[in-house]
Amino acid sequence: MDHEKTAELSSLYPCCSAPQHNRLVSYDDEISMFCDQFSCARVTSTGVWLFCKKWTNHRIIMKNPSIIKKAYRCCDGVCHSKPLEFPNCFLLTASLLTASWRFSMRVRRALLYMPGDDMRKIQKAIGLGVDCICMDIEDGVATNRKAEARSTIYQALSELNFGRAERLVRINPVGSGLVEEDLRAVLSAHPDGLVIPKVGGAEQVRWVSQRLALAEREHGWPVGSIVLLALIETALGVVNLREIAGSDPRLQALIFGAEDLAGDIGAVRTREGREIFYARSAVVTHAAAFNLQALDMVFMDLQDIEGLREESLEAARMAYTGKQIIHPNQVVPVQEAFTPSDEAVDRARRVIEAAALHQQEGAGAFTLDGKMVDAPVVRAAEWVLARARAEGKD
Ligand code: COA
Ligand code: MG
Repeated sequence: MDHEKTAELSSLYPCCSAPQHNRLVSYDDEISMFCDQFSCARVTSTGVWLFCKKWTNHRIIMKNPSIIKKAYRCCDGVCHSKPLEFPNCFLLTASLLTASWRFSMRVRRALLYMPGDDMRKIQKAIGLGVDCICMDIEDGVATNRKAEARSTIYQALSELNFGRAERLVRINPVGSGLVEEDLRAVLSAHPDGLVIPKVGGAEQVRWVSQRLALAEREHGWPVGSIVLLALIETALGVVNLREIAGSDPRLQALIFGAEDLAGDIGAVRTREGREIFYARSAVVTHAAAFNLQALDMVFMDLQDIEGLREESLEAARMAYTGKQIIHPNQVVPVQEAFTPSDEAVDRARRVIEAAALHQQEGAGAFTLDGKMVDAPVVRAAEWVLARARAEGKD
């Protein structure tokens, strides 16, 4: 995009100002396919701005139909179907993105915690085929073992091969007086991402993000190469969900922490979970609104694998994309629950094919196998296929 146009656009529309890094460009395989066509992309509260080197709208749609339903040329936050004076700027609002957008990020069906001072468990985790390995320095580590945890995590990140698993570190809460030391100790080993616990406001996410930007600059790493996941597990975090979810482009997921939340509000945890259900719903809804992933609460009963499976399936039905876990025996049932079955994928494919045919014939609603199919059913089927695709199943 030439400088003149950029300057003109920036003055007219501040949200289109200088190219900024965000997760869409560098860390997302599907979007990086656009990099030869787009000079930059930026997420704002209005949507995803893409700045093109040249007019490639049709090529984008054809190249990756799973991500973008429609791209309109746009200059003023309103989408236009006709060419405008700045044809090389698009706005893709959330409603124009298909369900697979969220799944174009790294797959995070299960996120396994272990105390950061326990090298044996870190090594064990690597052999489990789990999507994310999260080495803890927060509540899973005794106060007098924090230093040990930091150095063990540094060593693990530097020396061990984690294979395809994501290398995450859960730091202490911002403002705890411990987090500066956590960052100093582990960042130079370049984790893939950090989990920030007890997030109560957007400024906490931004504070960590700025620290990451400094570290990236200092080490010459790509800007944005360390992502963030925010744990919502306090009453304040729940009431500030909207600002937290939109706080920073590094943020890829919201994680729901039920035990801490119950403690914070003074609720008693039950198996049915009515006491935390509002928050559990709010987290997944805000994640969806901001195109983030959502990871469900920990299932505490290590013996009850059937109960874990049930709760994971329930979370998947609620649109959670994954779940936190704490023991090797929880990996398989949870990852299975967040992977659509072959039957579900097959049915979704048939729904979408049939819907396309009926659309051509001018019918928005029709029956398939005796059940009514209309637009929301088709959208649900798109979700199933998006999930399956993310897990390499489609
Ligand atoms: N990650 C990796 N390996 C783990 C593990 C975990 N979270 N939990 C257990 N293991 C390993 C054990 O080291 C043991 O390995 P070994 O057979 O090679 O010795 C094996 O799995 C079986 O463990 P088990 O005896 O059933 O459990 P335990 O009594 O050793 O540990 C917990 C029970 C709850 C302490 C342990 O699962 C744990 O530390 N979980 C994570 C807790 C945590 O991080 N909490 C904070 C986030 S909510
Ligand atoms: Mg917690």
